[in-house]
Amino acid sequence: MTFDSMWRDLGAVGRDARSGGYRRFAWTREDHTLREWFVGEAESRGLDVTIDRVGNQWAWWGDPDGASAGGRRGVVTGSHLDSVPDGGAFDGPLGVVSAFAAVDALRDKGFEPDRPIGIVNFVDEEGARFGVACAGSRVLTGAMTADRARSLTDGDGVTMAQALAAAGRDPEQLGPDGETVRRIGAFVELHVEQGRHLVDVGAPVAVGSDIWPHGRWRIRTLGEANHAGTTRLEDRDDAMLGFAAAVIAARRAAETHGCVATVGKVVVTPGGVNAIASEVTAWLDARGADQAAVRRVVDDVTEVVDDFGGLVVEDSWTGPTPFDPALVRRLATRLGGIPVIGTGAGHDAGMLANAGVPTAMLFVRNPTGISHSPEEFATSRDCHAGVDALVTVLTDLAGARA
Ligand code: GLV
Ligand code: MN
Ligand code: MN
Repeated sequence: MTFDSMWRDLGAVGRDARSGGYRRFAWTREDHTLREWFVGEAESRGLDVTIDRVGNQWAWWGDPDGASAGGRRGVVTGSHLDSVPDGGAFDGPLGVVSAFAAVDALRDKGFEPDRPIGIVNFVDEEGARFGVACAGSRVLTGAMTADRARSLTDGDGVTMAQALAAAGRDPEQLGPDGETVRRIGAFVELHVEQGRHLVDVGAPVAVGSDIWPHGRWRIRTLGEANHAGTTRLEDRDDAMLGFAAAVIAARRAAETHGCVATVGKVVVTPGGVNAIASEVTAWLDARGADQAAVRRVVDDVTEVVDDFGGLVVEDSWTGPTPFDPALVRRLATRLGGIPVIGTGAGHDAGMLANAGVPTAMLFVRNPTGISHSPEEFATSRDCHAGVDALVTVLTDLAGARA
């Protein structure tokens, strides 16, 4: 089975032996290996590989520019290959591997697409290195400027421009790429489910209907470095206190306003056990069904951080993102009335939907309900059910016009 052998090939790339999780960050050696893997899979199938201005990789079955000669625009599927720190194996790769497996299955049954079929590997979906999620599709669609992207820094102070150059890309190339976006007539991203809905309803696959509003904010509090043993409590200016208050405030505000809020990353300066913190930078992730409620969470946290003389700055924001209702209905019907579910997770599909591309998603059941962790899982049987669903969708969307 091609799915299983591709899955095995990817299994070792970027896997941390201690945690069992994946560390696949944008424009690193691991990312390079994954990008080479993508090109190898595409070429072994005779698909044409193109790379857009941002570095996202596209593999085409058929001429992606055929629409300019009177043909139809492409049907694109795929996802991303990068991960969060110690991420699971499925978030991202499941969509890319399933896409190649679906193309194989279509060819095995002699399917001849009436419009080009594309497979995409979006770069830097998780934003694990430079802080902004969906960076590849965000810049592609113009939702983030190239200047801002180039100047983002990783934990070592390396800018995205420097990382691109080190990976052999010209950072000046970075920018929105309308030509690439115009090739996409419809986008369907297959993804592992990141919650428990499909376990609860006993279904292997669902259609995604929408993405919750969500964003990331950077919290910065300042203090004065000093000795942990000799500085009297009343003399201290401890940056940690504002940070701690912000974490508690985020949790309380999320409860109050019916949202979720997470502080999952923090950098403390100077970072000594026996030194009072002079500076803390922390990242707040807040999401919810109602965008006004998410804003209230951030306002509440900002008020607390203000009281400590700190700052809260928005890193990224994505408003409510409904997928194309007609496409969602069409997929759900073709797939036999399977569940239709929304998600609190962000996806490149959201960026494309917000850029006006008819977009939907497919979710594959995750029996643990856990994601962004090595516990993330999908059974082989459900992965194959996902591929079958994708085959049905591509047959429908790329098949000959009735
Ligand atoms: C990406 O998976 C996100 O939702 O942050
Ligand atoms: Mn993710
Ligand atoms: Mn993902």
